[in-house]
Amino acid sequence: MGNNFIPLRIAGVGYSLPKTVIKNDDLKKLYETSDEWIYTRTGIKERRVVSGNETAIDLGLDASKKAIAKSGIGVDDIDCIISASSVPPQLYPTLACTMQNKLGIKNTIPAFDLTAACTGLIYALQVARGFIGAGIYKTILIVASDNNSKITDWTDRSTSILFGDGAGAMVVTASEDGVDDILSLKISANGSIGQMIQTNMPGQCCPLVEQADEVGSGKIIMDGKEVYKFAVTTVPKYVEECISMSGMKAEDIDYLIPHQANQRIIESIQNRLKYSDDKVISNIKYYGNTSAASIPIALAEGVEQGKIKLGSTAILCGFGAGMTWGGAVVRLREGIC
Ligand code: UT7
Repeated sequence: MGNNFIPLRIAGVGYSLPKTVIKNDDLKKLYETSDEWIYTRTGIKERRVVSGNETAIDLGLDASKKAIAKSGIGVDDIDCIISASSVPPQLYPTLACTMQNKLGIKNTIPAFDLTAACTGLIYALQVARGFIGAGIYKTILIVASDNNSKITDWTDRSTSILFGDGAGAMVVTASEDGVDDILSLKISANGSIGQMIQTNMPGQCCPLVEQADEVGSGKIIMDGKEVYKFAVTTVPKYVEECISMSGMKAEDIDYLIPHQANQRIIESIQNRLKYSDDKVISNIKYYGNTSAASIPIALAEGVEQGKIKLGSTAILCGFGAGMTWGGAVVRLREGIC
């Protein structure tokens, strides 16, 4: 980083989950499957989905409010909002603009969504780091509210077992004490393998012309085996690179807080780092894959449940459609969640 680069403080983290629980056995009403099949291959027992009057916008707002409250920073001191959802509840107005409105922010601060699928949180952290580092914005709300149930193909038993809804948020700000909470951060993409996870926009051509492409279903289409292979070959190595960039040794980092996609993928990273179970945060059993929201959910819930002691360090890592992936070694200060 340049000499004038302003360091970043992670000030607050929050999460929110829908109330409705769908257990593996419930899915038997949709197709032939079993709790045993799903659990042994993925580590998932249940997931949450929005229902009734509850929306993913509510979840995003709840997570944002919790992160802001923990940060101790006034809502009017936020000067940029980035939504990093993989599956935002709506395309327009963007989730970021909706959050600005619902949080009652009267200043016309910039608010925008970025899409990096399940790696969104790490991508947004890098963008926020650039803004803060260059002195462009001082305090940024990052939010991811993933409404996966909306685009899940509930007739496809190999993908619909995996996903759940949930939201996570982070407030990051210019560090007043000169200590940078980002010890290293790297993001990557490889569009040439993008076909592994696809969601084509639904819709049609102008009625005056011939339909050019097949109409998209708007549902997640995934080559699970290929994604699995990609994840276990790319992510553990990448995590090691991020650790080495941070100047730390794997054994000196307190926790691994990975994207919750599949317990076996989490274990592949754990084995590479030779971490004991108490250093690895996994809640996939209860929430499935909540995309970009999964890392802040795992972090804030881990603290709540006493699995994570603050005043520590952690490696965050994510991967997802694109394909995209990213990792960050971060400092977790007292009081952030
Ligand atoms: O952030 C996005 C990240 N995405 C991921 O991390 C996905 C990574 N991939 C995976 O986790 C695994 O590929 C899955 C868990 C999705 C699937 O496991 P798999 O071992 O790759 O299974 P498969 O799709 O190759 O299916 C194997 C068999 C098939 O039967 P046949 O053709 O061998 O007779 C499927 O029809 O298992 C069958 N099957 C099921 N059986 C019972 C597929 N889904 C189910 C199911 N219940 N839910």
